[in-house]
Amino acid sequence: MEVIITRDYDKMSIKAAAIIAEQIKKNPDTVLGLATGSTPIGTYKELIRLHKENRLDLSKVTIFNLDEYLGLSSLHKESYNYFMWENLFKHININPENVYIPKGDVDDAEEFCNWYEEKIKKSGGIDLQLLGIGSDGHIAFNEPGSSLMSRTRVKTLDEQTIRDNSRFFRKEEEVPRFAITMGVGTILEAKKILLIANGEKKANACAQFIEGPVTSQITASALQLHQHVTVVLDEEAASKLKRIGYYNWVRDNKHLVQKYLGR
Ligand code: PGA
Repeated sequence: MEVIITRDYDKMSIKAAAIIAEQIKKNPDTVLGLATGSTPIGTYKELIRLHKENRLDLSKVTIFNLDEYLGLSSLHKESYNYFMWENLFKHININPENVYIPKGDVDDAEEFCNWYEEKIKKSGGIDLQLLGIGSDGHIAFNEPGSSLMSRTRVKTLDEQTIRDNSRFFRKEEEVPRFAITMGVGTILEAKKILLIANGEKKANACAQFIEGPVTSQITASALQLHQHVTVVLDEEAASKLKRIGYYNWVRDNKHLVQKYLGR
């Protein structure tokens, strides 16, 4: 796991967008896994800027989103489908036919989840998966206790998540109790993973998933089992890490080893 600590939210967002843009430039047909929530909004803003000012071309990119609330139609203002179109897709040259987001108002959720898994496989798999992290250590909606082998399925949200996400709804009671989410096992099959986190509220979860044991109680900790994970944090989210000095040394001296790596 490469841990990159940046000064603040803006720097975190710029770094994350640069990693995504580099992937798209290397492979214009990239299959991207994307996330919702407050954390990636700055990353999406920067990607929009790169598209508008630096001509970053996303016309061939395919998107798979991580999750969606069960019971909300794609037109609902708090649906993740709506979020993605408002915060990213409508501002870039994405082909709508290449956008896949779990459907919250589907009749048969189980059948839909199997179809979604198949669709990811048929696309050749996700090249780069962007993730946020919940204050309970979840990735996507894989709440504490989720199997680390889990696939796309319906998941019951944790009380902590419902409280955290109630800020987007008029009342806590309006927050859906269920979601369709890619599983931890689905996420681990992405070729590369980029997790971003900012703010003090994420500091415990970050310390636990980066430096704690692998456990289904902190589903992000499963990322320790993946070979290509980059974590970009702001200083507040990194504040409870014990090995900050090492991560910063690696970041500042990466160029010294680059010549031995043939890239
Ligand atoms: P947030 O959510 O970006 O709104 O903090 C992250 C998550 O729950 O994965």
